[in-house]
Amino acid sequence: MNMANDALIRQLNVALAWELRAMTMYAHYAANVRGIHRLQLAPMFSTEATESMEHGDVVRRAVVKLGGVPVTDRATEPIVHTTAYDAMLGQALATEEQAASVYRSILDLVEPIDDKDLYDAIEQIYLAELRSVDSIRMLMA
Ligand SMILES: [Fe+2]
Repeated sequence: MNMANDALIRQLNVALAWELRAMTMYAHYAANVRGIHRLQLAPMFSTEATESMEHGDVVRRAVVKLGGVPVTDRATEPIVHTTAYDAMLGQALATEEQAASVYRSILDLVEPIDDKDLYDAIEQIYLAELRSVDSIRMLMA
C-alpha cells in the first residue's frame, strides 16, 4: 500500500469514528430532549443520527475499497449527557464543526490520488456538514 493511500485511510477512519460518535450522540439527544423544543428537536436529532449513519457507511466503504480496515470504535471525545436542548445544540455544533474540518482535510488527501467518485462523495458529505453547522447556528441565535 502506498503512503498517500495510507494517510487517506487513516483520516477516513478518523471521520468514521466521528460519525459513529455522532450517531450515538444524536440518538441519545433525540431520546432525552425535554420541554417544548422536544417537538422540533427530537425529529431533527433523529434525522442527524440517520445522516451520520449514512455518512459513516460511505466512508466505511471507501476505506475497504482503498484496502484498509474500517474502525468500529467511536471517537473517544465523551458524549455529554443532558436533557437541556441548548446544551445539546452546543454539543451538536461542536461535533458538526469537528466533522466539517475532518472532511475538509480528507479532500486535500483525495485530490492527489485522482479518484473523482471518492472526491465527489466526500465533498457531498463535507457540504452536508457545513449545512448542519449553519442550521444549528441559526437555532442557537
Ligand atoms: Fe456526517
